[in-house]
Amino acid sequence: MCGIVGYVGPQQCTDILVDGLRRLEYRGYDSAGLAIYDGKKVGVVRAVGKLQNLVKALREHPLEGSLGIGHTRWATHGRPTEGNAHPHVAGDVALVHNGIIENHLELKRQLVEQGVKFSSDTDTEIVAHLVHRERQAGHDLATSLRRALALVHGAYAVAVIDAKQPDRIVVAKNASPLVIGFGDGEMFCASDIPAILPYTKRMLPLEEGEFGVLTRDGLELTTLDGKPIDRAPRTITWNASQAEKSGYKHFMLKEIHEQPRAIEDTLRGRVDLHAADVVESEIGIDANTARSIQRVYFLACGTSHHAALYGRFLVESIAKIPATTELASEFIGRDPVVGPNDLVVCVSQSGETLDTLAALRVAKEQGAKLLAIANVIDSAIPRAAGSSFYTHAGPEIGVASTKCFTTQLAAMVLLAVFIARRRDVLDKDRAQSILQALVEIPHQMRSVLSLDDNIRDLARSLAGARSALFLGRGVSYPAAVEGALKLKEISYIHAEGYAAGEMKHGPIALIDADMPVIAIMPDDKSYEKIASNVQEAKAREGRVIAVANRGNADIGAIAQSVIYTPKVDPLLSPLITTLPLQLLSYFVADFKGTDVDQPRNLAKTVTVE
Ligand code: F6R
Repeated sequence: MCGIVGYVGPQQCTDILVDGLRRLEYRGYDSAGLAIYDGKKVGVVRAVGKLQNLVKALREHPLEGSLGIGHTRWATHGRPTEGNAHPHVAGDVALVHNGIIENHLELKRQLVEQGVKFSSDTDTEIVAHLVHRERQAGHDLATSLRRALALVHGAYAVAVIDAKQPDRIVVAKNASPLVIGFGDGEMFCASDIPAILPYTKRMLPLEEGEFGVLTRDGLELTTLDGKPIDRAPRTITWNASQAEKSGYKHFMLKEIHEQPRAIEDTLRGRVDLHAADVVESEIGIDANTARSIQRVYFLACGTSHHAALYGRFLVESIAKIPATTELASEFIGRDPVVGPNDLVVCVSQSGETLDTLAALRVAKEQGAKLLAIANVIDSAIPRAAGSSFYTHAGPEIGVASTKCFTTQLAAMVLLAVFIARRRDVLDKDRAQSILQALVEIPHQMRSVLSLDDNIRDLARSLAGARSALFLGRGVSYPAAVEGALKLKEISYIHAEGYAAGEMKHGPIALIDADMPVIAIMPDDKSYEKIASNVQEAKAREGRVIAVANRGNADIGAIAQSVIYTPKVDPLLSPLITTLPLQLLSYFVADFKGTDVDQPRNLAKTVTVE
């Protein structure tokens, strides 16, 4: 997730902007840059890597002035290079952006036809050129940005300055955060409150579709099409560390609540509802590959392995191709047989996990077709695969994965539908209903996240457990194993995720009144069977907590406690049932007082075998 900072006022702003970017470091980034108006022109300095590289570059090429914008970039379109770092410049205009421009290919083609030369691979540079084009046509900066944004589909928070109108920063927001800070004779903008908290406590977070002109005298706030808005700033009472977490107690809880947005970002520009299809240029494999492969082989570790289990389920049930999911470390530990007819999909949030990278290399040596699903652009696994499909969860700070996992699930749906449509095994109506249900998932997620308080109460009663069993069948099996992993990772309670049908083959011996059994049982074709398994647990005095659909009138008779979730397309239920399990683990851990964001012995990126 990129970070934006802007300043207009009487002070030299280089240090203010760098300091603001430093306070946004927690958002994750791979390059950074500043644009400052020096009285004559806008100077730009950018650097790849950590902020200290930008500071070094600024020592070599100092920027001075009291109007400026700064940016930390988390790469989504184009590699993390200096040329792709923001601010992007076109003529006298310099612009920073956080978000994803959906129609970037089409807009870029039009601009290239008009003779525009691009110096980066980013979607952002397009917006800078669009603004510049409007400036050349004689519009002022605010009108130029308005006219440019009218052509743009997607998510953005933008801040733009112009050497020819150097008394202002013009900003706009749609689906990416931006907050305005009110100083005394000076104004600030930033992606998040902590960036500017040392300078002012009077803040106004922009709402969707809002547009602002910041000058030393204050903010002129309007809608995107120019209607005035009258809203007063509020005073922030958080301290800096609370503000980084947007008021949440832990990053993990914040990231759990960010999931609707993360899914929207991952789907953005990739779903063509009208054609009932997935946009080919976004998915990392082409139509020929989708048609010719005879097997899909998913390789991954940990939570990503659980997403891969869901991928296997979908590829078989939607795309009708045999699919296998294997732990990367086991794949390299034997003599696997894959070949040119196999698509090997390596799934990794970080893109750096050594086991998964080693497995990919083995598959590559054997001539398999390769695809990486990763959250970090240009990381080792996508680079080694040569073909990549990126999730857009943004950086995840909590070590226990939440939003990266659910965005991987969404990616699996897109992959399976894409392959199925190429092979003519999924009719248009069914494809449309799956994709429609998928784009509605963020909305359903929000309704589950509002159950926060009920789940907290339930968690209190679990905090004393020594062990717990998570049961799921069919499409809910990956959610069960992921639920168990989350609980053990952050609360240190032993937990097993089990295929419910396997319970009678062993784990049933463990069940007694002290054993919570968490059963994931949405209404689908496995419901009757898992209900019988749960009855078996209940008959042995197991304490059953069910995750079931709203409207299920029978579940109360089987389970001691029920977490009700909205009913979605049965194929997509893990995108919903996962959320209460994450919250349950989170609250159990919080009651126990463990280090939720950095559980003992765990690392976010595992680069040892
Ligand atoms: C658990 C978790 C880990 C990772 C695993 C693989 O919450 O995040 O199990 O999934 O270490 O990492 P990636 O996905 O980066 O390959």
